Amino acid sequence: MRTETPKAIFLKDYTPVPYVIRHIRLNIRLDETDTRVVSRFAMEPRGAPADIELNGENLRLVQLKINGAEASAGSYEVTDDRLIIRNPPAGSIEFEIEQSCNPSSNTELSGLYLSNGMYCTQMEAEGFRRFAYFYDRPDVMATYEVRIEAPLSMPILLSNGNPGDTGASEEPGRHFAIWHDPHPKPTYLFALVAGDLACVDDSFTTSEGREVILGIYVEKGKEDRCAWAMDCLKASMLWDERRFGCAYDLDVFNIVAVSNFNMGAMENKGLNIFNDKYVLARPETATDTDYVNIEAIIAHEYFHNWTGNRITCRDWFQLCLKEGLTVYRDQEFTSDLRSRAVKRIQDVRTLRSKQFPEDQGPLAHPVRPTSYIEINNFYTPTVYEKGAELCRMLHTLIGADAFRSAMDLYFQRHDGEAATVEDFVRCMADASGRDLALFFRWYEQAGTPVLAVTTTYDQERGEFAVSVKQSTSPTPGQAEKLPLHMPLALGLISPSGRDVPLVLKDSSDPLGQMLELKTDRQSYTFAGVEARPVLSFNRGFSCPAIVHADTSMEDMLFLVGHDTDSFVRWDTAQTLGRSLVIQLLQSAETPSAVFTFAEALRHVLLDPQIDDAFKALMLMLPPEAEIAASIGRDVRAGDVHSARERIRKLIASSLRTGLLSLVAGPDTEVYTPDTASAAHRSLRAAALALLAASDKDETLRIAERDVQNTWHMTGQVNALTAVLPIEDQRRDAMLDRFFDRNQRDSLIIDKWFQMQAQIPGADSYKRIEHLLTHKSFTLTTPNRVYSLIGQFTASNLSGFHATHGEGYRVVADVIMALNEINGQVAARIATGFRSWKMFESQCRSHAQRQMKRILDTPGLKRDIYEIISRTLGA
Ligand code: TRP
Ligand code: ZN
Repeated sequence: MRTETPKAIFLKDYTPVPYVIRHIRLNIRLDETDTRVVSRFAMEPRGAPADIELNGENLRLVQLKINGAEASAGSYEVTDDRLIIRNPPAGSIEFEIEQSCNPSSNTELSGLYLSNGMYCTQMEAEGFRRFAYFYDRPDVMATYEVRIEAPLSMPILLSNGNPGDTGASEEPGRHFAIWHDPHPKPTYLFALVAGDLACVDDSFTTSEGREVILGIYVEKGKEDRCAWAMDCLKASMLWDERRFGCAYDLDVFNIVAVSNFNMGAMENKGLNIFNDKYVLARPETATDTDYVNIEAIIAHEYFHNWTGNRITCRDWFQLCLKEGLTVYRDQEFTSDLRSRAVKRIQDVRTLRSKQFPEDQGPLAHPVRPTSYIEINNFYTPTVYEKGAELCRMLHTLIGADAFRSAMDLYFQRHDGEAATVEDFVRCMADASGRDLALFFRWYEQAGTPVLAVTTTYDQERGEFAVSVKQSTSPTPGQAEKLPLHMPLALGLISPSGRDVPLVLKDSSDPLGQMLELKTDRQSYTFAGVEARPVLSFNRGFSCPAIVHADTSMEDMLFLVGHDTDSFVRWDTAQTLGRSLVIQLLQSAETPSAVFTFAEALRHVLLDPQIDDAFKALMLMLPPEAEIAASIGRDVRAGDVHSARERIRKLIASSLRTGLLSLVAGPDTEVYTPDTASAAHRSLRAAALALLAASDKDETLRIAERDVQNTWHMTGQVNALTAVLPIEDQRRDAMLDRFFDRNQRDSLIIDKWFQMQAQIPGADSYKRIEHLLTHKSFTLTTPNRVYSLIGQFTASNLSGFHATHGEGYRVVADVIMALNEINGQVAARIATGFRSWKMFESQCRSHAQRQMKRILDTPGLKRDIYEIISRTLGA
């Protein structure tokens, strides 16, 4: 048992440090078990001399010099997490600190560690303190001069900024490299890499005429998998200049791909470090989804150069300032390069599958939290994805031109600073002349708002009235909720399928498409509406809310067939699909509407005007977790799975001929990752996956044929994924062959684990337990853990939430084992328990028991403690 409860940090307690540090010199001598870092910096007091408390963890202090003299034993104190100097000398103080850390024993992958024999760092959020004593917080910004010294067996030595001198060390068999970063930065953006790496290079000339050398560094032998990432990098650089006027500001930009990494990637200044999964791609190794993810994440990290690095965060409570905004920017990048309509649907799918469950469960927190125990636990879908939605709503509210002016103003006012969310929203208000005080609530209030919509039509007067009631359920620590300021896009569609001009009663001006909701109840009456229209509500998902509308089945089918807003078309199909599954669960009788729904889908499939990627999205029912969430309580996961499969089967049987013709021919011969050909493949995949619900043998036969004949990874994975729900020895043989063919490639083996984690059924915990003992499984590589356990908790409802509780038990075992290895990864896996309260009572007691068992683990890390204790609500 823990001896003491970890302490929380509060936003209201923010105070700046009492000193200013402008420059830091680091001399780093790399060694596997005893890396020496000598840091030199001057601290200038802001006011009266004050005690100095530098962060430092897992370090050995070798030598401390203050103002040139070795500090006497009584003049400082070293604790578990600090170096404290009480009553320091007056005036400016020169520090020289030598400290030692042990990269080879660093399995947390935070600070300096080894990944497949190369040195790399991950300093965000609080890793620098595991490397050197310093003020490890984002509002302390300094320029850096770094000297790295390493054995000659590691020819590549990288750090932030521009390269300086290189040469042989005095010590034989070793060499050094110097790097200067002229841009002041906080510790979390520091990075270092050393190893025997291959480099792919290129160049880019900025709009300001700067010639930038681009480098992608990878493990030797993987050079032929970098071309796509390099293309994406150049596209990102160009886009940020054109769309936001942001040009790159150093002479080099380097990306390093590492195989052991806790998250997606990291925006270190001039030296982005990536999970290799988001860099490496060849058609034989990576799927269409991988290509798209690489494009988005390369862009995301690159865009941080301005939103995150040039302007950083005052404190970690402001995390959404850089993350929400940068996600919004990468979403816009993808929308501009690919299909905006499809991208919007995909982003809403992500929001609903990751952020909504968080916002509606025990881990709910505002986009800008007010307290935390472990900051790593706040790199959440709420901060990232909901944070991006808030930027999008600001854009919608003030308009594209004002938004761009506000961004210009933000860069102009705050460049080189550590800013707050208030600073950002003030720029939006100042540039637009709008009062955004009410909008600010979105940053402070947790929970997903619900909009209840009712409509009435008055034929005689030609009036259509829409009334909207907004409410948000209580979340932990926030019992009372206030109304939010929402941009609300809507349309009225006439019986002939055309948009009726929106004219509010008692006003002659046409309205545009956007209304603004500010109070808990608001009604709008539209005049001049000649025939009863159908309401198309929250077009483009203009606000991130749950909508409950009184739309009839007939009107929903009309929207699926006719809405000019493709988001609402898709969204209405999702609502229909979900309600069909729920109806079946409640009455066990086949809902007759399933056939009319299938008919509407057939029309979509046959329409040559409609994009294949959109068709593919239309063929997918909402995920099981979303259906479970809309039921809300006493859910039996196995029943949800069977009911959804039953509806899929009915739809598939109705569309059988169409689906068969989509998968009749072999998968594409030529592989290019462009939008149109990827869209074609995604439609084919969706058709095959749907067919699996009705024609098991036929699907197995087609999948076997595809796996035989397709040389690219997309075709392989699509074929295998379609047959996962089919319990059959042929499926298992296909999975075995996939392993045999790809066992030397770890990113492909991750896919193999990930696919098996999705195989449904109450017994699937046995497969998971067996795979945990597989020779290719390891708890020390985060990608492996996420592939098997993360995928299991996120998408295998009938397995993880099985009534007998064994799914929970297996996952709890893994979390407890990870406690010894990697607390960040363990805590991420632990968030899988967040929806436990909505399942049947046996599940709830099993989940509770397993979480209590985790809390009783001796030496439990505070990351895991925080997630589990909040999830339990204890
Ligand atoms: N700042 C990174 C991004 O979103 C993500 C990040 C935060 C991260 N903490 C991390 C990455 C820890 C790896 C490890 O772009
Ligand atoms: Zn980011």
